[in-house]
Amino acid sequence: MSIYAHITGWGTAIPEKILTNEEISTMVDTNPEWIVERTGIRTRHIAAPEDTSATLGAAASLKALEMANVPPSAVDLVITATSSPAYVFPATASLIQDSIGATNAGAFDLSAACTGFIFALNMATQLIRSGQIKTAVVVGAETLSRYVDWTDRGTCILFGDGAGAFVLQASSVQGGVISSVMRSDGSGGDLLSVPASGSAMPATAKTIEQGMHFIKMNGREVFRFATRVMARASEEAIEKAEWRLDQVEIIIPHQANKRIIEAAARGLKLPIEKFAINVDKYGNTSTASIPIAAVEMVENGRLKKNDKTVLVGFGAGLTWGAVTVIWKEPFPADKSVNIDFYQFLARIRSFLLRVARRIEGLIWGRKAPK
Ligand code: UT7
Repeated sequence: MSIYAHITGWGTAIPEKILTNEEISTMVDTNPEWIVERTGIRTRHIAAPEDTSATLGAAASLKALEMANVPPSAVDLVITATSSPAYVFPATASLIQDSIGATNAGAFDLSAACTGFIFALNMATQLIRSGQIKTAVVVGAETLSRYVDWTDRGTCILFGDGAGAFVLQASSVQGGVISSVMRSDGSGGDLLSVPASGSAMPATAKTIEQGMHFIKMNGREVFRFATRVMARASEEAIEKAEWRLDQVEIIIPHQANKRIIEAAARGLKLPIEKFAINVDKYGNTSTASIPIAAVEMVENGRLKKNDKTVLVGFGAGLTWGAVTVIWKEPFPADKSVNIDFYQFLARIRSFLLRVARRIEGLIWGRKAPK
């Protein structure tokens, strides 16, 4: 019997604070008209100081679990795609796993920049389809505002914060994630990067003074690359799914620049109406942009049950990829799950574990050999 991986729950976490083009125009030498004309972006959301990619990712995951009616203890795996992890390590996925109370899950981060959500979705799908796991939470979570150089007009106009999450569940019913394309060309790694604070360039007073811990981008080259790969990746995924292009109801692309999405539409010879676009509101939220756009399309009725859907992205690496999905409604639940209760239990468990580790440390400290 074949096993399929269905998307059965989804949620987002969007920070309250909105940063407008007008406000950015008071910070760097730009103007709102230029930003809208060249990118389509009007506003982006900025995380509150107390938020991280982990807190936003956890909030989105809890909403997705609630919709799927899945208790956190039933989750087998949390994969977080992020370009702005809370720490180098531990993985942001582990922080999310603890915060949502997924006490039986493994967790890891996946680094493929803005394409990360596509790759993570495919990883979770393959683990479900091979029978290794039954339930996964796939998260795209970003606080890129912490990596942006707010004096660089070439990048600070683009990025925003936010998170989106999908719950994937095993089912014998045909559907869910059908095919995937995953590609990389590392020779273009220098076109979009954060040069310092990895092992290649450890953070020092000098690297900070030079702003090497901020996003550096050759916008024009990234733009050219993006317009080359978006249509091709979509076509390859559609072909692998054995669909025809005219059967696709909606394409949900990475939201980086409206002109890149328009170029993809021209490349595929499809009307722009076939594409989800919300870059105007959120800017480029990297790994979070595809799930945030998907959730918005469900909420406004444009993405419906049984729709043949393509999710397609590109980003630093360089990386690019696409998946085809037959959209599903949440599985009918035997009984509704009270996520607040599970999270309350998770908080108590986490607290008790910390106390136990502390006591253990004190005991071992006393017993340490002299
Ligand atoms: O997830 C992947 C992340 N990255 C991307 O997707 C980025 C892809 N690239 C882009 O979206 C576009 O290349 C940008 C929006 C970054 C730039 O737009 P562009 O139309 O490619 O502009 P450009 O870099 O070719 O620059 C054109 C001019 C330049 O002036 P000169 O040299 O012609 O005098 C820039 O200095 O526009 C200038 N410029 C600006 N002017 C006003 C660059 N940024 C700004 C700005 N405001 N914010």
